[in-house]
Amino acid sequence: MAQVRLQQLRKVFGENTVAVENLDLVIQEGEFLTLLGPSGCGKTTTLRMVAGLESPSAGGIFFGDRLVNDVPPAKRDVAMVFQSYALYPHMTVSGNLEYPLKKRGFAASERQGMIKRTAELLQITPLLERKPRQLSGGQQQRVALGRAIIRNPEVFLLDEPLSNLDAKLRAYMRAELIQLHRRIGKTMIYVTHDQLEAMTMSTRIAIMNEGKLQQLDTPDAVYNRPHNQFVASFIGTPSMNFIKGSIADQGSMVRFTSPVATVDLPRDKAAKANGRSVVVGVRPEDVTIGSGAFKGEVTVVEPTGYETMVFVNLGGQDLVARVPADNPVKAQSTVSLGFRTDRMHLFDGETGASLRAG
Ligand SMILES: Nc1ncnc2c1ncn2[C@@H]1O[C@H](COP(=O)(O)OP(=O)(O)OP(=O)(O)O)[C@@H](O)[C@H]1O
Ligand SMILES: [Mg+2]
Repeated sequence: MAQVRLQQLRKVFGENTVAVENLDLVIQEGEFLTLLGPSGCGKTTTLRMVAGLESPSAGGIFFGDRLVNDVPPAKRDVAMVFQSYALYPHMTVSGNLEYPLKKRGFAASERQGMIKRTAELLQITPLLERKPRQLSGGQQQRVALGRAIIRNPEVFLLDEPLSNLDAKLRAYMRAELIQLHRRIGKTMIYVTHDQLEAMTMSTRIAIMNEGKLQQLDTPDAVYNRPHNQFVASFIGTPSMNFIKGSIADQGSMVRFTSPVATVDLPRDKAAKANGRSVVVGVRPEDVTIGSGAFKGEVTVVEPTGYETMVFVNLGGQDLVARVPADNPVKAQSTVSLGFRTDRMHLFDGETGASLRAG
């Protein structure tokens, strides 16, 4: 039952707000799938449809072979933690955790053990007797997470459950969620606009933009083989550099020409090359500073501790390079600069689709 399948799922609000458009997605049993995308791209709407809190305008939601479009939320065996979680204000933390267990008929003796284990897992044991208003936002969020975990449902739906936590606790909870998923092996659909969360936690990532699925792939694949320019620019910090130009076949190579730079790329970068207008993409870590065929002006040097971001103007175009912290480059200096051409990406100048061969 725990495979979740979305088939041509569509949601329109009012006359013409298309929140989700013809979404096809299979979330395998036991998978940790993340919906990732910018604000307003339809992540929460998708999750709410899976939960049964929003009905689709078109398309089907299947749990296993069963069409659940008309099954009420309580009958779907899903647990949700939403962006705006609501704890019962009059109950203690312990009471909040216990509530879903009572509803499901767990015996009192059993309930206490489950509360204890969940509280330990989420480090909220000292808070068990407090009321929600006596907790910080982050503590409340952990209780909300606990309330979902404790029921042990078939499918977990998590909508930015870590967004109110500070950086340290977020990192801790990320690791906890990964372990939790490994331990219980349940299907999890996780929504975030934080790519670090998506990259570190997911089996696969579904990247959305404007209600449409852009790519469904492993974290490695969305980073290294983005299907289009949107995915390429959305994944990675700082963002991939893009340079507009054209390409032409050069036998075993493909020559990229632009006012800024001309480089020869391996043949597998473009299936059909001749005369095409393209956008070349190169990640900051694939720009070399101090070696290479080009000369650029360093505008800003941003040390971040273990590495440094170097902003360079190359013939009028701003590029960013990620270099080791011991690189001695100075702002306002002229540097040589190069590209790791085997790691460059090529996109169609018009559609933004990847031109990668094969
Ligand atoms: N109840 C609603 N009525 C009308 N429009 C809505 C409703 N809920 C969402 N929308 C619209 O649908 C689109 C998708 O919203 P959704 O909440 O799914 O985005 P999201 O990806 O979760 O964004 P965020 O990262 O900001 O939470 C947005 O344009 C939003 O304004
Ligand atoms: Mg949302």
